[in-house]
Amino acid sequence: MTLLIRNLSQIATPLGRGGVRGRAMRALAVYDNAVIVVRDGRFAFVGRESEIDPDLRSSIDVDFDARGATAVPGFIDSHTHLPFAGYRETEFNRRLQGETYEQIAASGGGIASSVHATRRASEQELVDNILVRARTMARYGTTTAEAKSGYGLSVEGEMKQLRAIRDANEQSPVRLIATCLAAHDFPPEGRSSATARRGYVSTVIGEILPAVAEEKLAIFCDVFVERGVFTNEEGDAVLRAGAALGLIPRMHADELSDTAGAALAASLGCASADHLMQISDAGIAALAASNTVANLLPATSFFLMSDRYAPARQLIDAGAIVSLSTDCNPGTSMTESMPMVMQLATLQMKMTVEESLTAATLNGAASLQIAHETGSIELGKRGDLVLLDAPNYLHLVYHFGVNLVTRTMRDGQWVL
Ligand code: NIG
Ligand code: FE
Repeated sequence: MTLLIRNLSQIATPLGRGGVRGRAMRALAVYDNAVIVVRDGRFAFVGRESEIDPDLRSSIDVDFDARGATAVPGFIDSHTHLPFAGYRETEFNRRLQGETYEQIAASGGGIASSVHATRRASEQELVDNILVRARTMARYGTTTAEAKSGYGLSVEGEMKQLRAIRDANEQSPVRLIATCLAAHDFPPEGRSSATARRGYVSTVIGEILPAVAEEKLAIFCDVFVERGVFTNEEGDAVLRAGAALGLIPRMHADELSDTAGAALAASLGCASADHLMQISDAGIAALAASNTVANLLPATSFFLMSDRYAPARQLIDAGAIVSLSTDCNPGTSMTESMPMVMQLATLQMKMTVEESLTAATLNGAASLQIAHETGSIELGKRGDLVLLDAPNYLHLVYHFGVNLVTRTMRDGQWVL
């Protein structure tokens, strides 16, 4: 099947087959009054209609009028906690009245409340939940999303979440990529003593990761390295064990406190170091000198009502590869919207619109190690794109708080 998308006001995309850093993050390719041809699910032409190769032109069987829309690459949301049951709106309301996330967690809420609800849910309920969220994501322009376990915290609980991601992926409009985050927290039954905690780390390394790898349920392995959660040493041990089983490491690092997590992530060759609200100058330098993507999640700072955002400007100026994601989860970031994240990245973290678009597409793909396949509108890549009801890409941030996405295409098929 060959599809011509005509009558676009603009096409705006980063270019490349890998992550881009520093000044290059601003270098979008912008085409005015151009067309896109998608053949057999992949981009076959981008440019002036008059320049389409005659053979390709004669193969066009569908002609689509975009009516002045702007095309950008499908968004890549490279950090989400999608498979969860239950909501935490009551905790959210308590936070609005002055309690902190840490206080709520200490009183039995927080991750533990999602663990209880997710353990109670059937695998089918989790599949249904994931699909509802994936459809919302597609409505907001996401075409690929990473999805983490981490609300099971037992062999069966983690496997159930990861199987739900696998099964949902069969019907999901958004391509899902699974991460095992068994080391998200200590389970309620395994946190009372240092011995119990060590026991859970042994379970993760000795049982959960091998079972996940055996069933090929995840591509990535993640750990929440944080004061009061997993230590750097535990994070190191879990990620090395995962890597030995073929699971690529990524890490929640320096979110609520600086534990030198970013430097650890870089030294382990993690695909990404995520959050980074408290990253130190040494951490910034370590990421800048590595291929570990700095994955920033400003919706989490926003939703936690924190004025502490990750130092996006310093990271970019130092030369790190920076990406943006929603962190979609019921506690700290209840949103599926990548445009919202881009708005926060620009207005709160002072990224440029161009940097934000690169971070929300190509660099997210780089962190998921699929930048050779998607993340930009380029010849040969998968036909993953979004049409915006806007004259140009600046409106994605400028025209905030509304959804400009009118169509989402994945692998050359309209999924919205
Ligand atoms: O990414 N940082 C740890 N985990 C989540 C929060 C999970 C939750 O509160 O349920 C996060 O912010
Ligand atoms: Fe997270």
